[in-house]
Amino acid sequence: MFKKRVSGEQIALPKQSIFVDVHAHILPQLDDGPDDIEQSIAIIRSMYAMGYRKIIATPHVMSGYYNNVPEDILQALQILKSVLKKRNIAMEVEAAAEYYLEDELFRLIERREILTFGGDKKYLLFEASFVSRPSYILESTLKIKQAGYTPVLAHPERYNNLNDLEVLHRLVFNGLLFQVNIGSLTGYYSKQTQELAEMLINKKMVAFFGTDCHNEAQLASIRAAFELPIYQTAIKQNLLNNSLLETKKKELIST
Ligand SMILES: [Fe+2]
Repeated sequence: MFKKRVSGEQIALPKQSIFVDVHAHILPQLDDGPDDIEQSIAIIRSMYAMGYRKIIATPHVMSGYYNNVPEDILQALQILKSVLKKRNIAMEVEAAAEYYLEDELFRLIERREILTFGGDKKYLLFEASFVSRPSYILESTLKIKQAGYTPVLAHPERYNNLNDLEVLHRLVFNGLLFQVNIGSLTGYYSKQTQELAEMLINKKMVAFFGTDCHNEAQLASIRAAFELPIYQTAIKQNLLNNSLLETKKKELIST
């Protein structure tokens, strides 16, 4: 724990220094995240206490399971924002989505019915089947880029077929960004997932960290990860998370 002076008062900042979460299921009733707005607020309050100041809400979009269209997601965002304001919770929230890699995604891209984050950078967060062939992910990366978006693969450490440094290098070389789940570092998902996440950090291949939080209980593994040396190594690298903060907030944090 260390202290920084902001607007004349001493506030304690947690020892983690990622202030923006780019992958979180915090909008109620859109996917397997919170069941209601009170659960959403509970997650957000806990994340604020952990040091987060901005969350990109990324509900699942998967045809047949989570048919979330931008209008529904943005409407849920507006409701959440108004409740946060009423309750004086200073967490900034935006919305994008976690798109499942399937033919439907490319139809949505064609119709421009896609929610991204990072303004002009147009970061498009997607996940794939855990048994996807690397060639399919590579081909999709190139198509997403060609359409003018920046592809970001959610939790690459969770895909068995990506457990190969050469494959990972090829994907990065072709413009794919990796978003690692912080909880992976504690072995929350599996030992193999943990080892691959560590390798991605050690090879400096991580662009973003995310919580992939679906409920408040899951935050325990994120808090535990903050204490790990590998996490402390990772946050000293050139992660893009804090580039998504407003300039004013960035100044507060760097002073
Ligand atoms: Fe997710």
